[in-house]
Amino acid sequence: MTDFAALQEEALAELSQAAEDAALEAWRIRWLGRQDGRASSLLRGVKDQPADARASYGAAANALKRALDDALAARQDAIAKAALDALATTAALDVTLPGRPQPLGRLHPVTQTMRDCVRAFAEMGFRVAEGPEVEYAAYNFDAMRIPEDHPARDMWDTIWVDTLIDGEREMLLRTHTSPNQARVMERTAEPPVRVIVPGKCYRQEATDATHEWMLTQIEGLAVDEGVRMSDLKGTLYEFARKLFGQDRKIIFHHSYFPFVEPGVEMAIDCFICRGAGADCRTCHGTGWIEILGAGMVHPEIIENAGWDSSRYTGFAFGVGVERVALLRWGIDDIRHFYQNDLRFLGQF
Ligand code: DAH
Repeated sequence: MTDFAALQEEALAELSQAAEDAALEAWRIRWLGRQDGRASSLLRGVKDQPADARASYGAAANALKRALDDALAARQDAIAKAALDALATTAALDVTLPGRPQPLGRLHPVTQTMRDCVRAFAEMGFRVAEGPEVEYAAYNFDAMRIPEDHPARDMWDTIWVDTLIDGEREMLLRTHTSPNQARVMERTAEPPVRVIVPGKCYRQEATDATHEWMLTQIEGLAVDEGVRMSDLKGTLYEFARKLFGQDRKIIFHHSYFPFVEPGVEMAIDCFICRGAGADCRTCHGTGWIEILGAGMVHPEIIENAGWDSSRYTGFAFGVGVERVALLRWGIDDIRHFYQNDLRFLGQF
């Protein structure tokens, strides 16, 4: 008579000595291996038993096989858990520590401000166009009524591109977005035009707290029958209120830009000192902060588009986006924007 109980005891004693994967596998083959495993062989021996003993032998052999299967699974679990516990308490790796958070990016403050400006004008019915950053001098200057030897070219210190296109067409990094007035009119059959053109501009500039060699502008242009200075004022007043608060006041001063007549600069009332600070660093005690240039489109530019300037009139404006961003957040130096310092950029 086979002593199943003794066999089971022997198998479990051996199993309790197996501590790693290789030993467990060797034990499995020795006891449960399909060919020569001892428990498997016993099961196969049912047929050699006398007829009246077969049933009880078979049941006992099956029970042994199942007990060993269960014991193996339990032992595998226990060993895996012990290994994890050992790691958690002894190793330099703390598996209970939460993972490192992935830092999230965000939009650059100038991009945020640009989008707010674009939205403000889009809500007033302006559509958005784009133009090239590497521009022909013919658009950047001549089309804007700034001919070769005109002193107004000195208003923009230009970064020239060292190659002549077709051996004669001078190129440069656009100094302002204004050339897009001409570009938009050129590809528009007939007014109305109501468009803004956001984009980067470049100037050969000694940088300081208020000047960078790269800047972002938004050009605006509206041309139609009966467009008047009051339309310019109303549009830019609404823009000022959308960006700087509903109680803003605006003031226009006459200014000179070759492509508009008359030309103006618009200022908003100083929302930092509210006019009270003689030594206010934002408005320098004037109570007003200049924020953009504008004017009525020069009739010559309208004629150059092939349109009748006695029928069509228009206004144009140019906003410096960095300047708007500096003001709305009270930032004291434009150079912060492009130094890629996350301690600065993370604040917006
Ligand atoms: N282009 C000018 C600049 O960069 C800004 C400007 C002034 C644009 C008056 C305009 C305008 O459209 O009418 O200084």
